[in-house]
Amino acid sequence: MTSPLRIGIAGLGTVGAGTLRLLRTNAELLARRGGRPIVIVAVAARDRSRDRGVELTGIRWESDAMALAAAPDIDVVVELIGGSDGIARDLVTTALANGKNVVTANKALLAHYGAGLARLAEEKGVALAFEAAVAGGIPVLKALREGLSANNVQRIYGILNGTCNYVLTTMRESGRDFADVLAEAQRLGYAEADPSVDIDGFDSAHKLALLAAVAFGTEVDLAGIHVEGIRHVSALDIEFADDLGYRIKLLGLARPTDHGLEQRVHACMVPRTTPIAHVEGVFNAVVVEGDFVGRVMLEGRGAGAEPTASAVVADLIDIAAGRATTSFAVPASQMKRGRAAPMARHRGAYYVRLMVFDRPGVIADVAAALRDEAVSMEQMIQRGRAPGEAVPVVLTTHETEEAAMRRALDRIARLKTVVEPPRMIRVENL
Ligand SMILES: NC(=O)c1ccc[n+]([C@@H]2O[C@H](COP(=O)([O-])OP(=O)(O)OC[C@H]3O[C@@H](n4cnc5c(N)ncnc54)[C@H](OP(=O)(O)O)[C@@H]3O)[C@@H](O)[C@H]2O)c1
Repeated sequence: MTSPLRIGIAGLGTVGAGTLRLLRTNAELLARRGGRPIVIVAVAARDRSRDRGVELTGIRWESDAMALAAAPDIDVVVELIGGSDGIARDLVTTALANGKNVVTANKALLAHYGAGLARLAEEKGVALAFEAAVAGGIPVLKALREGLSANNVQRIYGILNGTCNYVLTTMRESGRDFADVLAEAQRLGYAEADPSVDIDGFDSAHKLALLAAVAFGTEVDLAGIHVEGIRHVSALDIEFADDLGYRIKLLGLARPTDHGLEQRVHACMVPRTTPIAHVEGVFNAVVVEGDFVGRVMLEGRGAGAEPTASAVVADLIDIAAGRATTSFAVPASQMKRGRAAPMARHRGAYYVRLMVFDRPGVIADVAAALRDEAVSMEQMIQRGRAPGEAVPVVLTTHETEEAAMRRALDRIARLKTVVEPPRMIRVENL
């Protein structure tokens, strides 16, 4: 066998400790697959005394993670600290500048600085690999770069955040409301104490930015993504969705349109008959639609120590075997600067829920507001009768432009018989 691949791991939290465990447990298999052993030369974290459930004897401890970027006996720096700036960014940039390969799970860093870091890696002739940054254990970047590389991708979408999918699934199964289910998810460790990054869609946006860049050969454009979370989804909406034949999922979607690259993260009504509607709990899924292959769906665990370690180590095997490819499927110099499609130009169907006073003429007023903006209604359902009191009314539309829908919703919100702002969820044609 040739000389071992020598790695330094920065960050020994959930993913770092999982990566160490995998490297130990499957060492022999990895050496065969990569053609040489992978050896952990050094590690770095903040607290040396913390028990991480993994044996660190014989591995050098660096109290400053930056030492890994300079160490002459390290070929690959594995960055598993996290955060878009600070130490993670300094470490990755310095390691690449020093001619070291980098493997990272850090979607926030790459979503912000991916194009520049990929250029630096190419200049230095080293790998920047980040399979673990998108959908954890699902090998979707490799699938896009390799198995699907002959296709023009027409659309890519997925359930990219396990916390949101867990919350939405539990809301549907239990009939409970968002706040209640989120609090339980936090108690069970499925949601962070500060859940905003997940619940408000930002984590999905980071992953979508990377997926879109790899799928369409465009520069990572986080700012071009329309991002909404799931806080506004109520138990009532989930119940109505069920009646109408849909499930509600937080999706990240990207596709080229006449107005530019459309990238959006928001709650979607997904037909119950589609496979992605049945991806439940903490599971993630990514669907790629290619011009020759058609539709391909990959499903699996999008987070957690072991699935994420699986992706980190797959990147290490590629580097060991000398088959690491370009980070974003095309050379960084050839990544096109994408034009972001404005959300106002999005075309799609909509679900709208209103709370209205149960009085004659209310429905006619709502229908008139839609007609005045040329929005065509598909169906309308009134749940229950309570003369003089507020009752839910739900409608769905045919395909229309987002800007027209927004104007119609403004008109509806101004009607005296509508008692709270209309709730809108986009209906996806999948
Ligand atoms: N968790 C997942 O399921 C998952 C899935 C996919 C991708 N990721 C990504 O993987 C990365 C790591 O996530 P994680 O969940 O493993 O995080 P984590 O459990 O919070 O671990 C972070 C690690 O970084 C270390 N660290 C923090 N600041 C440091 C510094 N200044 N110098 C050296 N070490 C430092 C911490 O040290 P101490 O232990 O001493 O505090 C800890 O070991 C993130 O980019 C995340 O987005 C995570």
